[in-house]
Amino acid sequence: MDLIRLANDDAINAACEHLTRGRLVAIPTETVYGLAANAWDADAVAKIFVAKGRPSSNPLIVHVASIDDLDRAVALPLLSGVQSQLDAIADLWPGPLTVVLPASKRIPTQVTAGLSTVAIRVPSHPVAQELLRRCPFPIAAPSANRSKYVSPTTAAHCCGGLSGHLAMVLDGGPCDLGLESTIVRLSDDGPRLLRPGSVAAESLAARLNISLDELMPAMNPPDHEPSELSAPGMMREHYSPQTCLRLIDDARIEPLATKAGRIAFKQLSADEASRYTIVETLSENGDLSEVSRKLFAAIRRLDGAELDLIIVDVCEPIGLGRAIMDRLRRAAAGHRSD
Ligand code: TXA
Ligand code: MG
Repeated sequence: MDLIRLANDDAINAACEHLTRGRLVAIPTETVYGLAANAWDADAVAKIFVAKGRPSSNPLIVHVASIDDLDRAVALPLLSGVQSQLDAIADLWPGPLTVVLPASKRIPTQVTAGLSTVAIRVPSHPVAQELLRRCPFPIAAPSANRSKYVSPTTAAHCCGGLSGHLAMVLDGGPCDLGLESTIVRLSDDGPRLLRPGSVAAESLAARLNISLDELMPAMNPPDHEPSELSAPGMMREHYSPQTCLRLIDDARIEPLATKAGRIAFKQLSADEASRYTIVETLSENGDLSEVSRKLFAAIRRLDGAELDLIIVDVCEPIGLGRAIMDRLRRAAAGHRSD
């Protein structure tokens, strides 16, 4: 049978069966595809790290069907201050938001990389929802790509590099959002943004009634030293294609001698487009939700097109633009000599 199966009722049951038996399944979510295992099964979780080539020091996100299942992964009750923070943002679930909270003892140390906290998310994708409701355990799932490569936004993307490790890929269509979830850590020290995503930092700060500076005092760019305020593994994670990637701001390339591809956020003039071997236009008019939905697939396509260079547009780093620029800076940083 094909590795990729359309996510109908039978296929979702089969995925649940594989997970129950400790196997890995790639699953769709509204952000990116995840590499799923039973989060209570330490041996199954260990397979995720092998499949991805991921350092064991980089913890995983645990997924549940609803906030009512929080106790499957989180130590309850929460301190009252932390509970109030969660109450202020809980309306964003199901959705592209991951919250870091104290970990339940039921979660093996492989999932949390030995931390006392666990990252937890309630995804909204109907297939992920259905699968989580059918499984009597929470699901650990990092993005379904080899460590350091671009996250997958289609079922086919999950097969490159991981196929030998997968029992199946549940095909739920292309991901709606296309960028990994926003991560926020809640604690008595106050909420901290660990990773920007489709839930804008601005809307988190407004709900939590704090300023952006309080929410993200030390959002270091990827070429800075790791800080304890960051998600472990985020600082040095570059998510880069094989092909050299440059932002249009940094690219000093005059008449192009190189074979270059361009990822444009909106339509280029014919004159400008003619300078490139391939142009991928993500949106006619620069709509950032369209840009984020299509960005990773475009990077993967150009990475397979035997180019010398990929040049990508930039946008203002506010709202969704902050998440887009975070991922692009990481992709570009992966090719610096330092
Ligand atoms: O949208 C997403 O979040 C996708 C889908 C599949 O849910 N998942 C995803 O997982 O992006 P991954 O492993 O690629 O990224 C998880 C990030 C890592 O940077 C990790 O360091 C951080 O979450 N993380 C996990 N547990 C944490 C914890 N206890 N404290 C701080 N950061 C944590
Ligand atoms: Mg990832």
